[in-house]
Amino acid sequence: MEKLVSLCKRRGFLFQSSEIYGGINGFWDYGPLGVELKRNVKEAWWRDMVTGHDDLSTMPGAPEPYEMTGLDCTIIMHPQVWKCSGHYDLFHDYMVDCRQSKRRYRHDQVVGRWVEAKGQIVFATAGSDSDHPEADIERNALKFFGLRTKQADQLKWDGVMVSLTTVDDFSQVLGPDAKELGTLTEPREYNLMFKTIVGALGGEENAAFLRPETAQGIFVNFKNVVDSSRVRVPFGIAQIGKSFRNEITPRNFTFRSREFEQMEIEFFCHPNSSAEWYTYWRNRRFQWYIDMGLAGDKLRLREHDPDELSHYSTGTADVEYAFPFLPAGEYGELEGIAHRGDFDLRSHMEGKLDPESNPLTLELDENGKPRHRGSGKDLTYRDDITNERYTPHVIEPSAGADRATLAFLCEAYTEDEAPDENGKMQSRVVMKLHPRIAPLKAAVFPLVKKDGMPEMAQDIYRSLKKKFNVFYDEKGAVGRRYRRQDEAGTPFCITVDGESISDGTVTIRHRDTLEQWRVKKDDVVAEIDKLVNG
Ligand code: GAP
Repeated sequence: MEKLVSLCKRRGFLFQSSEIYGGINGFWDYGPLGVELKRNVKEAWWRDMVTGHDDLSTMPGAPEPYEMTGLDCTIIMHPQVWKCSGHYDLFHDYMVDCRQSKRRYRHDQVVGRWVEAKGQIVFATAGSDSDHPEADIERNALKFFGLRTKQADQLKWDGVMVSLTTVDDFSQVLGPDAKELGTLTEPREYNLMFKTIVGALGGEENAAFLRPETAQGIFVNFKNVVDSSRVRVPFGIAQIGKSFRNEITPRNFTFRSREFEQMEIEFFCHPNSSAEWYTYWRNRRFQWYIDMGLAGDKLRLREHDPDELSHYSTGTADVEYAFPFLPAGEYGELEGIAHRGDFDLRSHMEGKLDPESNPLTLELDENGKPRHRGSGKDLTYRDDITNERYTPHVIEPSAGADRATLAFLCEAYTEDEAPDENGKMQSRVVMKLHPRIAPLKAAVFPLVKKDGMPEMAQDIYRSLKKKFNVFYDEKGAVGRRYRRQDEAGTPFCITVDGESISDGTVTIRHRDTLEQWRVKKDDVVAEIDKLVNG
């Protein structure tokens, strides 16, 4: 992972935001190569899910043909949206503060072990940002008991490492950065939504939130889409856009950021067929990652256990990837596919009146009416053929553009060997990105800067540039130029050499197989098109 992070900075995939001021935790900038990569990921998703979707045929595994359309909604929405969606009341993590170190930790991410020494029992901990929690817990315990490393055998451990959530009495807890016991506060709720003020007047009544998910923009526009376009249920609405969460412990590169992009679909269907649609979308989304180059046992589809499901959901599955920063055997979520029933549309119609799901909705306002009522608008759907009116069920495939991009980067990073210009094998770093998402599709090189080679190479470059993002390079030995493109993930390098001048053919080199073949200069654009787009 360290090698990948360093390559990302060196080659301009990712930079820490505001780096010259020391950075800001949880925010990342995409550099010249990174911006192309992420755009390609989003465009591949949009093309495969929305514009390129064949709505006249039944997709394999789908109950019937369906339509797809898109939206681009605002980041700041009416605050009532978040009351009805549940985010205002329920979208929080629990955190604990250390009175001594003044540091803040996510309650469930502080881990520790019970340990006894010198007649005292304590729960020694490591913080959520620890990469080696076992070692940090031991170091913390040794320091507390005033022992040296070589006296570690005086520590008597009781049980395995567990979360702080298993501990009731904090008086025996040694905080991750504390010198004394009992410095951690009781867990407190911490809403993850970023708050802002709309307008010049300020004041709590003008408070608004940056959206923590793009999904709600789709739900509140459901009626607009049905009324303004000719879509009929079953259909899906897609949206790509920024979301914001004030994560307590942003970590693992871009995996958990405070500003990130989501690619979400809300798929509206008849309640009777929603179970089949759920299965369809779960499999379809899993297959997408395989098609884009994630393969093998690093990628898995995990169905949630019944006790993990929200009360309104009859099924949720996660597409997960074994990111290299995770301990062996652990997977991180790339995308969740959830059967949400009619929960969201109903919430925006009526508000949540279900005391089981949200007791806060039973608070009454000054008129004795429950607070957090919905819009009061009719968000049901009438089938114009059968005349049936119902509230559609929703299947929600919700993906993170940054997490997908990170997984593609992790999967692509490869160290192997390739021959240099003298045929000698040299080690190289190569980013084996799928050609569809590679930032540059091809690079064009004249073998040497004379004999008409640069002119011919520039001609080819210009004709490719009309269709693709390509790179022209005439500096240095050709072997070094190949290596630079290998690191950038460029799948094809086109070289103009002496033979090109005499017979009008050029070589194309394949980044992964290192195979080289000759094509006519005028066929290069068609050849690259075929190789990239199939
Ligand atoms: N509308 C449902 C929803 O937002 P989620 O599981 O909270 O569900 C969906 O988020 C996806 O968004 C995740 O699978 C992940 O890819 C991405 N995501 C969520 N929080 C993120 C964060 N802090 N940083 C980067 N990506 C995140």
